[in-house]
Amino acid sequence: MDKLVIKGGNPLRGRLHVGGSKNTALPLMAAALLGDGVSTIHNMPVLQDVYTFANVLRVTGARVEFRPDFDANTPDTLVVDASSINHFEAPYDLVKQMRASFYMLGALLGRCGQARVSLPGGCAWGPRPVDLHLKGMEALGANIEMDQGYVVAEAPEGGLHGAHIRFEPSSVGATINVMLAASTANGTTVLDNAAAEPDVVVFGEMLQAMGAKVSGLGTTTITIEGVDKLSPVEFNNCPDRIELGTYMIAAAIATPAGEELVITGAEPDHLGDDFLNAFRKTGVPFEIDGDTVTVTGVETIQPVSITTSPYPGFPTDLQAQWSVMMTQANGASSITETVYSDRFKHIPELNRMGAACRVDDHVVMVQGKNGTALQGTNVMSTDLRASVSLVLAGLIAEGETHVLRVYHLDRGYENLEGKLAGAGIDVRREEYQE
Ligand code: UD1
Repeated sequence: MDKLVIKGGNPLRGRLHVGGSKNTALPLMAAALLGDGVSTIHNMPVLQDVYTFANVLRVTGARVEFRPDFDANTPDTLVVDASSINHFEAPYDLVKQMRASFYMLGALLGRCGQARVSLPGGCAWGPRPVDLHLKGMEALGANIEMDQGYVVAEAPEGGLHGAHIRFEPSSVGATINVMLAASTANGTTVLDNAAAEPDVVVFGEMLQAMGAKVSGLGTTTITIEGVDKLSPVEFNNCPDRIELGTYMIAAAIATPAGEELVITGAEPDHLGDDFLNAFRKTGVPFEIDGDTVTVTGVETIQPVSITTSPYPGFPTDLQAQWSVMMTQANGASSITETVYSDRFKHIPELNRMGAACRVDDHVVMVQGKNGTALQGTNVMSTDLRASVSLVLAGLIAEGETHVLRVYHLDRGYENLEGKLAGAGIDVRREEYQE
């Protein structure tokens, strides 16, 4: 297995470039299945999850090429030829590697009227149900049965029909899945308490470009008027907002006072107001100029408590990183998780590095130590965002931090060590035995 070894205490300065969004890339790939022909998607991140989902698409008979021919002119392009889909399944072996494979339920129902998709299991931070996805498909008229761990879904004679569906709680995945199925249903579907995350908006824009009639994107009520069929399309994925937020936090803790880290290729609006406002309150100056965010290092970080919630609330995918920043603050703060109440697997590891954090139900209290370095050691994590929080901790630790099981990071951060090394960080990848 691989690990990242980070030698702490080096200044982070210069430039970091944000890649294409992982969480948007996957639904865009699912959407490509709805078009009878060849779709081309640009600005795709080079990540394990994209390779895995490409394999999920291939099972259906779709032809998928990522970074075609490794041509320097198309380094981030993915091509999906969905003209010959003949197998309506997403097998367990692939779904277990990546929950987003469950988007195949909506994509295959929408395109072919039938699907057999493995149920995803729990995940590292607790159960992650799919009841809203299934209720949504049933509301569209699909007959759903369980068969040996698989969801077997079939559209009724005459096809799926429009429906009024309310999601409680708001769910990114269920909103996307139902939109995939509803785009070619008969009649109009209205989704209440729909997810307003930028990932959903950009995905909805791709559906629109394919000929779907979707309105209300970016609000909590999305309306889809079904059309007969969708056309293939050429589309640009958006920048990764969580990567941007992660780099802003990296700059706050590791860029020397008065120096700058320039983050390019970003879409700052996608971070949402809560993150930007909370960041501002820490006293770490940042400037937004188009697709560039410049963060200036400070002597003292002010403690700021946050509560995660759906967009434009503070993203749950940035709370682990925020907790690292708060270990450096000049006082105590709290992190309240309302989306995934048990998502704190990184906290015991941060405490092993010398942080003073206490988990109480779905709240973490962080006693900031006003810039006191953490201690490097072996740390391990069980999911993507927790892993990157340990890398951030390594930037400000004394000695070497060995972040084990790097495959979590490879799922979601494109060339992380290369990018950090380019901005002054002493980081290397090593093989090890567990
Ligand atoms: C997506 C993101 C993930 C992010 C999360 C919340 C991808 C690939 N992943 O995950 O990085 O952390 O949004 O922003 O885009 N829920 C139900 N029943 C369901 C579905 C969800 O109760 O059928 C609950 C979940 O337990 C959770 C809440 O809804 O409490 C939000 O989850 P959801 O938005 O669905 O997360 P994902 O789409 O899985």
